[in-house]
Amino acid sequence: MAPRVPVISAPMAGAAGGALARAVSSAGALGLVAVGHGAGEAYIERELAVFTEPGSGSPATAPPAPPWGVGLMAWSLELEAQRTLHRVLEHRPPVIALAAGDPTTGARLAAATGALVAVQVGTEAEVDAASANPDIDLVVVRGSEGGGHGLNAVATLPLLQYAAQRCLAKPVAAAGGIATSAGLAAILAAGAQAAWIGTRFIPCAESLAAPALRDAVARAGLDDTVYTSFFDLVLGLPWPAEYGGRALRNAAVTPWEGRESELVEALNAQTPEAQALRAAVTAARGAGDATAAPVYAGQSAGLVPSTAPGTPAAEVIAELDGFRCLLRAASARWF
Ligand SMILES: Cc1cc2nc3c(=O)[nH]c(=O)nc-3n(C[C@H](O)[C@H](O)[C@H](O)COP(=O)(O)O)c2cc1C
Repeated sequence: MAPRVPVISAPMAGAAGGALARAVSSAGALGLVAVGHGAGEAYIERELAVFTEPGSGSPATAPPAPPWGVGLMAWSLELEAQRTLHRVLEHRPPVIALAAGDPTTGARLAAATGALVAVQVGTEAEVDAASANPDIDLVVVRGSEGGGHGLNAVATLPLLQYAAQRCLAKPVAAAGGIATSAGLAAILAAGAQAAWIGTRFIPCAESLAAPALRDAVARAGLDDTVYTSFFDLVLGLPWPAEYGGRALRNAAVTPWEGRESELVEALNAQTPEAQALRAAVTAARGAGDATAAPVYAGQSAGLVPSTAPGTPAAEVIAELDGFRCLLRAASARWF
């Protein structure tokens, strides 16, 4: 069953499990499950079972199963010889999405199973490489305003316009900063086939995010985010240096903005301050405390309504579907 609404809900570690992806796909869009760095086998089995277990929509009498997919981090797969990808592919997801790192091996393995392969890109060179790679079916241009980890090189709209000129042979989706039907209308008008949306879905009822994190996203303004490696450094996560993450400012990260080399020195020297910081952020992450935990979210957090926490994803999809009226109205205004 092909998606009816040109929206792909982004794989988001800590937010997009099977329930969110399923709700999005069932509402007529395409939902992706995140399998982030260090996601164990229990997580994979549990979250993918939503789509693959009997009763999840495949019997002959049931309506056709909605489309779905899984998003993984290319750099993380490289570190463990694609083991997690092999495990995911055993579940035969119709879509595999790769991000952050060299997607060549993962795309080849996924394409060999018949999966449609999407890759997030953030620079001209990455657009060109994805466009030329026969194993990649969908090029996802991800601008620096997007939430979570990615490059901080180019904003969504310039990258999309570039890709629309270059990727003539394959479809392009746009990610980063899209949270409303107006944003969706804009990227469709600029040549994208679909919007790849993360932040807007974090507060949804089906999200895995802790309640305080959902509330923090819904309360944030457009300029309340920071692009930083602070949380990865403090938590000792092995993200490649070129991938920072866009997160909400909070009491932990704000004092260290622009002081990352100082932070590295303090962490390496295991100063009391650095150790206390590591303990505080680790505890806050475990407790879902938005004042010190990483709350990854994009600039579009400022467009998420304050009433969003607990909203079913289907309502967000219905709101986004309003793009049709906006495009018709724009067309009527100008022609
Ligand atoms: C909380 C959060 C977690 C994310 N985790 C992942 C992930 O595990 N895999 C991935 O490919 N992208 C991840 N991303 C990035 C999204 O795929 C996407 O690029 C981004 O959300 C788009 O921008 P937006 O947040 O402005 O919609 C994450 C984003 C957020 C906000």
